[in-house]
Amino acid sequence: MASIIRTRSFVLLLSSAALLIIYLAFERYFWRVAPVVSALSGGAAGVGFQPSRNPRRPPHIVFILADDYGFNDIGYRNPAMRTPNLDYLAAEGIKLDNYYVQPICTPSRAQLMSGKYQIHTGLQHSIIWPPQPNCLPLDLPTLPQKLKEAGYATHMAGKWHLGFYKKECWPTNRGFDSFLGILLGKGDHFLHTEEGGGGPYPSTWPWEGLDFRDGLQSTNAYSGIYSTHVIAERVENIIEKHDKDKPLFLYVSFQAVHTPLQVPESYLQPFESSIQDEKRRIYAGMTYCMDEAVGNITKKLKKQGLWDDTVLVFSSDNGGNIDQGASNWPLRGSKTTLWEGGVRAVGFVTSPLLSERMKGTVSRELIDISDWYPTLIEGVAGWTLSGTKLDGYNIWETLRSGKPSARVELLHNIDPLITPPSTWPNDSIAAAHNSFSTRTYAALRYKDWKIVTGYQSINNGWYSPAESSEQSVASEILPGKSVWLFNITRDPREFHDLSNQEPAIVNFLLERLESYQSGASPVLYPDIDTKANPAGHGGIWDSWE
Ligand SMILES: *[C@@H]1O[C@H](CO)[C@@H](O)[C@H](O)[C@H]1NC(C)=O
Repeated sequence: MASIIRTRSFVLLLSSAALLIIYLAFERYFWRVAPVVSALSGGAAGVGFQPSRNPRRPPHIVFILADDYGFNDIGYRNPAMRTPNLDYLAAEGIKLDNYYVQPICTPSRAQLMSGKYQIHTGLQHSIIWPPQPNCLPLDLPTLPQKLKEAGYATHMAGKWHLGFYKKECWPTNRGFDSFLGILLGKGDHFLHTEEGGGGPYPSTWPWEGLDFRDGLQSTNAYSGIYSTHVIAERVENIIEKHDKDKPLFLYVSFQAVHTPLQVPESYLQPFESSIQDEKRRIYAGMTYCMDEAVGNITKKLKKQGLWDDTVLVFSSDNGGNIDQGASNWPLRGSKTTLWEGGVRAVGFVTSPLLSERMKGTVSRELIDISDWYPTLIEGVAGWTLSGTKLDGYNIWETLRSGKPSARVELLHNIDPLITPPSTWPNDSIAAAHNSFSTRTYAALRYKDWKIVTGYQSINNGWYSPAESSEQSVASEILPGKSVWLFNITRDPREFHDLSNQEPAIVNFLLERLESYQSGASPVLYPDIDTKANPAGHGGIWDSWE
């Protein structure tokens, strides 16, 4: 009798073990096979699933975007800045040393959200100014939309700046489950109001209004609380409430360190004697506070048990504004320019899921902000891009295991609406070509080479930070000069223009520009609409169509 019972329980034990093995195998297999099945049915190819520690779902993704954050403004490059949390995260992950973004806010955000260059979204000129009826084209599937398809919870806190004239353009209608922050390009960090200036405004400007929303609702509940604190606290709340069996996508889009230069007093204290220049000191304080916010967010991810399964990306949206306390030294130029100081950015990736030999390294692979779209959707989430035509490359294997990236070329931009004064003589090099007009404002990178064309009107020099004893170098552009060629690998500071010495390379790059330009979408840059005035909407910035 006893032996029969023993045999029975043994058989029972065996069969439940077998069931468990089948179940576990299915669990592991399911996430591999699901994207492949959908890729096949969607007609796309090449889905590489990356194993996550929890086989039931893809990794969490935290994308942190800093606003107008300069190349020289992170502690690991410039010890005058205090960024212990960013330095630590970067040191544990991969510092991206050949990493590019757009020279201004809207275009970088458009590329991040769509995986496409601006010449393919129509946003190749300037930014979206508040009174313009314009937004990221609604037919483009956004990054959060695709991640939602892949099963992610998608949350955003911070700055949007991809248009708001219709509610369809707002973050919660473009793929985010929740949104707390500003729809415009900047605002008072404490009052969350915006009056702005510059750009294509009517003579009745400035228009002032509240710009702060929780989802679709305007709110003044955060009035008096500093933007970086509001954003960090919202993100921490989301993490705390999140069911960690569901993949989480967090888009943390700080308003820091964009103007206006404001920060709570306590963050200035460490710089009181080390930075004399007032703008630079406030900027350093804003950076220090943003760093603390990143520290708080990562601490919360660890506390809630999400960190081991998280991929965190940190990026600036464009070069620092040298007139507003930022520094891109030793690079040339500033925010808005196509020089390296406008487009080569601070960026790093960190994750316990990176292979051991990649942790603590510096990557020299050419990487563009448009690469995050396919990298996060296809590479990290293991989801399909369903044949969407992109300019970005999936670089997840480059990051995770060090495989060389497929990207050798990068279009910085072609902006046909920035033109030289009519008196500007034609460039002699330009005259030798009859395809791409070098009067067009553009820049392209091909392997080691970079071509810059068009009218470069401001911030063409090298600007050392206020705390440094090194000398800034001015740059005078001769009338008619409209083509530059640099070997960026050898000359990252763009000191040695080789356009006269290398006519064949100039020719090749102009042909590449011509080929891009011939496939460009028309520029979306509508006239302003006076209906945008917050005075007509109870003092808030709101949709008006
Ligand atoms: C970080 O957390 C600490 C402790 O809760 C808090 O005092 C501080 O204000 C937070 N900082 C930011 C930038 O959110």
